[in-house]
Amino acid sequence: MVILLILLVTGAAGFIGSNFVYYYLNKYKDRIIVGLDKLTYAGNLENFSNLPEDQKCRFQFVKGDVCDSTLIEYLFNESDFNGVINFAAESHVDRSIHDPSIFIKTNVLGTQNLLDVSKRYWFKEGKWGKNKKFIQVSTDEIYGSLGTTGYFTEKTPLDPQSPYSASKASADLITQAYYYTYKMPINITRCSNNYGPYQFPEKLIPLMIVNALNHQSLPVYGDGKQIRDWLYVEDHCRAVDMVFEKGKIGEVYNIGGHNEKENIYIIKKIINFLREKTFDDEINENLVKYIKDRLGHDRRYAIDSTKIRDEFGWKPTVEFDQGMEKTINWYLNNEEWLNNLISGEYIQFYEKNYGQDL
Ligand code: NAD
Ligand code: TYD
Repeated sequence: MVILLILLVTGAAGFIGSNFVYYYLNKYKDRIIVGLDKLTYAGNLENFSNLPEDQKCRFQFVKGDVCDSTLIEYLFNESDFNGVINFAAESHVDRSIHDPSIFIKTNVLGTQNLLDVSKRYWFKEGKWGKNKKFIQVSTDEIYGSLGTTGYFTEKTPLDPQSPYSASKASADLITQAYYYTYKMPINITRCSNNYGPYQFPEKLIPLMIVNALNHQSLPVYGDGKQIRDWLYVEDHCRAVDMVFEKGKIGEVYNIGGHNEKENIYIIKKIINFLREKTFDDEINENLVKYIKDRLGHDRRYAIDSTKIRDEFGWKPTVEFDQGMEKTINWYLNNEEWLNNLISGEYIQFYEKNYGQDL
């Protein structure tokens, strides 16, 4: 087999990273991924257990930290990477409120380290190597919070409000600085909230699924009317692939679901789906528990993704109800995956975050 392209995918064992590995290796039969992941609480090697044989042999996993420049240099020495897709991050807003420092280390310094090593290997004798690109996978949260109207465009000023989003915004600015200063071939993608298989059950949708299945309270922050713009994870992966292939160097691309929903709507939808599927009448709205609001809670996110649609024809393909059904079925069929996660550190964080409220 002639291998035409090799990517370094960081954060490969996380939610979106592992979905990207499946999507990419299935789509391109002549490409290889080296997946780097520190395997924090959010990284899980079990996420790769369903890779078919023809994809497994084109995937190499390396356990390590994006902040470790010696390791990243070693990987660049071993493989002539065509691209780096940087998914690695501390990604949970609630954790960033409890302990911002690891967010700065991984999300800011880790990104800068990856940019630096990539530049060292890709920029030789005053020229950038051909067909090289660094993709910084970012988030709509860097734009801050919207009122009841309006959308984030790529030109919306950055106004991050949580330690998580501030660390992601910093990483975006550093990535842009490598473009402006060194003309490094980069793109930044800013996506709205993802949902789908392999999402760690600390985020809204999988947390509500797990708690409902266990007849535990469903913790709703504040009035539950905060709005997120939900996108099925595979649509995000397709967009990142398109930006890697076609994105104009230095540009930012917003990616969104055109699918704004209040949190409480999502929670009720999960309750109804689960009750229908399991015939379990104890899964009902009595489980909903309103608790004190998240500090600095962003009210509304909504993405204008006209640019990526007009330039590459990208648009979401998975309609919300269909995506939710796929997601819920996946969690119901992967109870072992789930049960292996909800012990030890998970319980400690759960108690720290929700404490007396539940
Ligand atoms: P995740 O928390 O599920 O996965 C992050 C992965 O990064 C984990 O596997 C973790 O082990 C790994 N990691 C953490 N620190 C590391 C380090 N120092 N070195 C190497 N690996 C490390 O997060 P996710 O939801 O898959 O998000 C992936 C990326 O997409 C993040 O950059 C996030 O900001 C961005 N994003 C996420 C969403 C969303 O809704 N989940 C939306 C937009 C953007
Ligand atoms: P989350 O999945 O943490 O994503 P983000 O904060 O990055 O958008 O949360 C999505 C929304 O759900 C957010 O408005 C906070 C809310 N939420 C709850 O109400 N209860 C919960 O237990 C969690 C985890 C989130």
